[in-house]
Amino acid sequence: MGLTTRFTELFNIRYPIVQGGMMWVGRAELASAVSNAGGLGILTALTQPTPDDLRREIDRCRTMTDQPFGVNLTILPSVNPPPYAEYRQAIIDSGITIVETAGHKPQEHVEHFKAHGIKVIHKCTAVRHALSAERMGVDAISIDGFECAGHPGEDDIPGLILIPAAADKVRIPMIASGGFGDGRGLVAALALGADGINMGTRFCATVEAPIHQKIKQFIVDNDERATNLIFRRFHNTGRVAKNAVSDQVIEISAKPDAVFEDIRSLVSGAKGRLALETGDVEAGLVWAGQVQGLIRDIPTCKDLIERMVDEAKKLISTRLANILPSKVVEAA
Ligand SMILES: Cc1cc2nc3c(=O)[nH]c(=O)nc-3n(C[C@H](O)[C@H](O)[C@H](O)COP(=O)(O)O)c2cc1C
Repeated sequence: MGLTTRFTELFNIRYPIVQGGMMWVGRAELASAVSNAGGLGILTALTQPTPDDLRREIDRCRTMTDQPFGVNLTILPSVNPPPYAEYRQAIIDSGITIVETAGHKPQEHVEHFKAHGIKVIHKCTAVRHALSAERMGVDAISIDGFECAGHPGEDDIPGLILIPAAADKVRIPMIASGGFGDGRGLVAALALGADGINMGTRFCATVEAPIHQKIKQFIVDNDERATNLIFRRFHNTGRVAKNAVSDQVIEISAKPDAVFEDIRSLVSGAKGRLALETGDVEAGLVWAGQVQGLIRDIPTCKDLIERMVDEAKKLISTRLANILPSKVVEAA
């Protein structure tokens, strides 16, 4: 038996659990495993070196699952931006029906996707941005709290406040993101008004995540304090795992006259990729969130999702149900 919410109905999936776009991690192996397990797997467009590579990756994912999956398009401010319009066209041409957008000024992309009948989930970190995306015509919101890996924004509002604050105003289906890793989090998100959850870090520590075993073990060994906030002074805050590189970035950035150029080589995507592929946890930035403190094993996506759903069902039907006065009286 699945779990039914407005989100599962809209996207025709069994469980309201999404694997968010992840640079270098969101490849066909992971996205298909999540979708096969009843969640929604998402490929990361910019992980592919060219739009044609993305077309091939989408084809490859289709050979690995017959379930719905999506593609993430992350639009970040950049001096030399990737050819976003060409990646977008590759997504459209490939017949993808679900896109996760994230980042700055998604309007142009949302309009094109919507014109081609594609359902758009926009991931953002503030209620005002969620409402603006809703007005733009997106189909669902993914609201990312301060706990999250990646870019939590500059408002520093944790999920416990952000999720209900957004749920009070957003009318379209909304999933909660940042800090989720088990069935307790799933039930909490539903209680706070979300229609499901999005996870990043938790899916990195799974059998199918296409990254080195030592990185998965690093995540398991880390606790909830093992993250650093970088790029704060450049107004593009990122939450990454604590390691020598992110410590150094913070140290350099704290100098009064620090400019981005001072840290550019340390934070390069190529070095981050090297860390994920070689398992050298000090080779570059390793993006991970506070939920590391709740991650204690490396299951398959199927085992993880089924365990979370079982835990959620048990919590709802026993622990929470037993709190109701009638049950207490019956039990007395
Ligand atoms: C390794 C890694 C890479 C990520 N890369 C991206 C990305 O390219 N685009 C994006 O929108 N989000 C990215 N994220 C954020 C996730 O999609 C998700 O929003 C976030 O991980 C949720 O927080 P959690 O890690 O606590 O589950 C990344 C997260 C991780 C862990």
